[in-house]
Amino acid sequence: MILQTRDLHAYYGKSHVLHGVDLCAEQGEIVSLLGRNGVGRSTTCKAIMGLIPSKGEVIYKGRDIAGMQTHDIARLGVGYVPEDRAIFPGLTVRENLILGLKAGAVKIDETIEEMYHIFPNLAQRSATAAGVLSGGEQQMLTICRTLMGKPDFVMIDEPTEGLAPRVVAQISEILKAIADRGVTILLVEQKLSISMKISDRVYVMGRGQIVFEGKPEELMASPKIRQEWLEV
Ligand SMILES: Nc1ncnc2c1ncn2[C@@H]1O[C@H](COP(=O)(O)OP(=O)(O)OP(=O)(O)O)[C@@H](O)[C@H]1O
Ligand SMILES: [Mg+2]
Repeated sequence: MILQTRDLHAYYGKSHVLHGVDLCAEQGEIVSLLGRNGVGRSTTCKAIMGLIPSKGEVIYKGRDIAGMQTHDIARLGVGYVPEDRAIFPGLTVRENLILGLKAGAVKIDETIEEMYHIFPNLAQRSATAAGVLSGGEQQMLTICRTLMGKPDFVMIDEPTEGLAPRVVAQISEILKAIADRGVTILLVEQKLSISMKISDRVYVMGRGQIVFEGKPEELMASPKIRQEWLEV
């Protein structure tokens, strides 16, 4: 088990948003966290990352990281790609990637070459200002930048939102390639499509709690769960 949350609660001021979230991920797994708008998927990522106050346990590689500072959590190997694609538009693709490196990183050119292997679109755009990239390329850039920090576990929040089906397919392939290298992925999604194709397991969240856990095919075989917690 690389990551496990136990009875995780989280708060925005007085508003209690997560009500005891239990989830886990094994090394190299792609685990999806599904749910409708506002159920607490992004909040789960923020709580794991130490960005908001929480209660409960977050066990990462056998150690409780709950309550630690975000930069220390990142240094331990937890990566986070938030919903907003916060790239630096005036910097080139390569410069944006360099910003994802950890302090003291070595073999920088090698790391970038390795990443360009997984992200051929970015390789072609290396010297281009990030601001002129397409939406899909910007999403790839934010994922790639997080990977520059060499995380072992990465949370990716709605990477396919607003993207064309062809680009969604490209991102699916990229996520599989990342997982094949042993990186564990917690994929936050709203739509079933990509998660059903690439996940080893899925969680469905409803009102700040996990309401279903199983394999993609088990979710496909549970129309009641889908109606109650996913379909709009
Ligand atoms: N910064 C914030 N301050 C106060 N409440 C917040 C804040 N961010 C989120 N919330 C509330 O917490 C709840 C969970 O939000 P969260 O962002 O985790 O939802 P989500 O499942 O990621 O869905 P979506 O991304 O579609 O909004 C929602 O009711 C939301 O309004
Ligand atoms: Mg969200």
